[in-house]
Amino acid sequence: MNQYQLDRKIPIPLYYQVKQWLLNEIETGTFASGSLIPSERELSEQFQISRMTVRHALKELMNEGKLIREQGKGTFVAQPKINQGLSQLTSFSEDMKKRGMVPGAQVLEVQIISDIPSIVQKGLNLGVTGGTLLKIKRIRLANNEPMALETSYLPLNRFPGLERKNFNAQSIYRILEVDYQLKLFTASQTIEVGLSTTDEEHFLGIKRKSPVMRIERVTYDEREQPFEFVISVYRGDRYKFNIELIR
Ligand code: GLP
Repeated sequence: MNQYQLDRKIPIPLYYQVKQWLLNEIETGTFASGSLIPSERELSEQFQISRMTVRHALKELMNEGKLIREQGKGTFVAQPKINQGLSQLTSFSEDMKKRGMVPGAQVLEVQIISDIPSIVQKGLNLGVTGGTLLKIKRIRLANNEPMALETSYLPLNRFPGLERKNFNAQSIYRILEVDYQLKLFTASQTIEVGLSTTDEEHFLGIKRKSPVMRIERVTYDEREQPFEFVISVYRGDRYKFNIELIR
């Protein structure tokens, strides 16, 4: 049993002291990610406080994504978020490998399209003629857990035969670099926060109306020609983004 005592003489609310204690136990690994924490009743007995006070602390930690409540099972420590840098042009596969995770993909759709959505047309600077694109929709996995849903559009006249590649097993960037000698150069990205759609909830295995990050990327080669338009939907509970600022 933990010997930690709440300080009733200081003007810091008791719920907040419990919250800080829980945060500390999570950060130091006493309560490891994925593990069950003591119940509301146990915490209220341990600290000699009301269950309402405990509930207040737990609720804030759930809102902050540190704890997850599972109906009928209890309250668990959330998995730490993947902290993704945004200053380098990397692929999902490279990012996951760098973190010691196994990247993967589950292909939902590979389709040659000539009816091109206008944002894709604009992003790829296709003009009126358009041409045909390959649309690839994949669930992106890290250690087999769904992390993002990605829909990529690539011009087939630049990458003939791309539709026959196995996107379940291989990184798209690697295919483009190795099989088509493409040199990836820069990308421009916009990030927007939103709530999940039914489709996204189904494929990512997340709850109704979960927070997600929607990223649109246009990627350019060394001649500054756009060759890829991608819409990625990342799970808000598993990702955070990091940007280096220079002055
Ligand atoms: C990231 C980017 C996508 C890009 C993908 C390529 O997830 N957000 O825009 O298309 O990486 O990943 P891979 O080469 O692993 O298929």
